[in-house]
Order: sequence, then C-alpha cells, then structure tokens
Amino acid sequence: MNDVIVLGIETSCDETAAAVVRNGRFVLSNTIASQIDVHTVYGGVVPEIASRKHIENIDWVIDKAMSDANVSFNDIDAIAVTYGPGLVGALLVGVAEAKALAYALKKPLVGVNHIEGHICANYIQDINFEPPYIALVVSGGHSHLLYVSDYYNFEILGRTRDDAAGEAYDKVARAIGMGYPGGPKIDNAAKLGNAEAIKFPRVFLEDESFDFSFSGLKSAVLNYINKMKMTNSDIYVNDVAASFQNAVIEVLTQKTISAAKFKNTNKIAMAGGVSANSALRREMKKLCDENGFSLNVPDPIFCTDNAAMIASAGYYEFIKGVKSDIDLNANPNLKLGER
Ligand code: KG4
Ligand code: ZN
Repeated sequence: MNDVIVLGIETSCDETAAAVVRNGRFVLSNTIASQIDVHTVYGGVVPEIASRKHIENIDWVIDKAMSDANVSFNDIDAIAVTYGPGLVGALLVGVAEAKALAYALKKPLVGVNHIEGHICANYIQDINFEPPYIALVVSGGHSHLLYVSDYYNFEILGRTRDDAAGEAYDKVARAIGMGYPGGPKIDNAAKLGNAEAIKFPRVFLEDESFDFSFSGLKSAVLNYINKMKMTNSDIYVNDVAASFQNAVIEVLTQKTISAAKFKNTNKIAMAGGVSANSALRREMKKLCDENGFSLNVPDPIFCTDNAAMIASAGYYEFIKGVKSDIDLNANPNLKLGER
C-alpha cells in the first residue's frame, strides 16, 4: 500500500496545533502554539480569547508543520481536524481552516473526535501497539475507562460522574494558590510534599463500578484549606498537593487494573493531559509490572493536546473510507464513538 500522509489540525481548547503524520504512526512534524501564558492571567481558559488566538496562530502553525515535515500540499492525502468535543468557538477556527484547505486543494476532509485522537497518541508512541487493550483517558474535560477492541470500537466501561480528573487538578491548584494549569504545578509540588500527610477520601463508588467521581475529593481539599485558615494553622501546600494527587492516582490506577482483569486483557494504555503526570505514570507502571501487564503511555508532549494524535486518528478513519462533507460543523458535545 502507498504511504498515506495526513495533515492534522487541532484547536479544541487552548493549543493551536498542526502536524503531519505518515501512515498514522510516523510523526513528520508536530507544531503546537500554546496559549497558556495568555490564560494564566485569568486563572483558566477564556473561550473568546482562545478563539481569537487560534485565528492569529492557525496559518503560521500549519505553514510550520508543512515546512518542518518537508512536504508540500500536493503530498497530503487527507486533512484531519478535531470537530468536537471542545469549546465551540475554538473548534470552529480549526474546522473552518480545514474545510477551506480541503476545498481549495481538492483533498479529502476527515472530522476527528478529540478523545479518539488522544487514544491514537498511543499508536504514535509505539509503532507496533495494537488493540485490544484497556485505555485510561484522563484530560481536562474527560475521564474514561475504555475497552478498545479494535481501531474503531470502544466499549465505555466507566466515566466520571462529575469532575474530570484534570478539572479536579485545576480546581485544587487554584484553591491552594498555584494557578492555571493546575496539573503540571501539582505534579511538581507533590514531588516536594508528603503524600501521606493528609488522608483525603478515595472514592471507588459501588463495587464493580468503573465510574469515577472526583468532586468529593475536591470538596475535601477545599474543606481542609478552610479549616486550616479558620484555625490559623499553617498550610503546607506541597503536602496538600501530594496527598490530593495520591488519592486521585490510587483510584485511577486501581480501577484501570481491575478493568484489565475484568476484560481479560494484559495490555493497558493511557492518554490525555493527566497521563503526563509523573507519579501516575510511575504508579501505573509499578502495578502493571506486578500484574504482568504491559503499559503504553505517550511521551508527555503527545499526552496533552497536539495535532499528531488527530492526524493519526484521521488516518484510521480515512483508510476505512470515512470522509466528512464540506458542511462539517463543530460539535462541542460530541460523544465518544459518535459521528
Ligand atoms: O488533554 P488535555 O491537554 O486537554 C483536554 O483535552 O482537556 O488535558 C489538559 C488537562 C489539564 O486539566 C491539565 O491540568 C492536565 O491535563 N495536566 C496534568 C499534567 N499536565 C497536564 N495533570 C496532572 N499532571 C500533569 N503533569
Ligand atoms: Zn485534549
């Protein structure tokens, strides 16, 4: 089969990204313009600012991805773009750009689900990695435990009933004065803290449930901070960060291992921004080793939002014959497996 070269475009939140990927597995270029500095001032992503920044950045980001990959538009077989879920105004910038390119260049357009993109980062990480496997997808907006039976089918074993894992990190970080984005800041602070200092709740829900719930843990951290303030006690933020993180990781890892046992598979993968977390990666690896499971985790740059994962997901859709029409629209609430 001839090589298939896909240009991926991602603008669902606060990274403007474009990438060129060969055969869904080989990254020829990966350009990411992060807006973190702009949003940090406001303590979180401001949707209108995100859209405006995407408009400012999208053209040069695509040009850079093309020149870094050393390819011309003639060499591109398809254009893949995230069309949901995400911030509608942000998604629209990437979708409009991809449609304009596809129309002008007469190239196929493939709309990609952002969460499916995150999962595909694993195919980039290890070119031999294949389904079936259990995937823990933990990002700022989503927490899913999935059984990925093949490239196109996902069985949702569990999902969050309230806050996503990354959302909990971001809210707790704000409460302890660390600012946005919380995940990397808590990750670093936790390295200096005592994870056993404060016993925060581990919410496992009903027996056999693979669902998550992080809002109780978030409230427990907020209550702890309030109590310490009211009693004029010192708050050791590194200990709070480490203890909070320990509670999140215990639930995420144990449920993932149980899911693998339940589905009788010995392959586990992680995806999404929170899977960049150093302690989560370490603990999951330890438990996988103890249980004789293999673990695949993308490099941190492919865990957080990027367009290489979108190009990879687009490749698998494209070779199956899926193409989007020129009236493709952003769908901020797009569900996993939905088209
Ligand atoms: O996948 P992602 O880049 O965007 C979404 O699709 O949401 O995930 C962003 C989330 C944020 O909540 C951020 O705080 C979290 O991932 N995150 C981390 C780390 N790096 C990013 N959480 C924990 N530890 C990290 N090192
Ligand atoms: Zn994401």
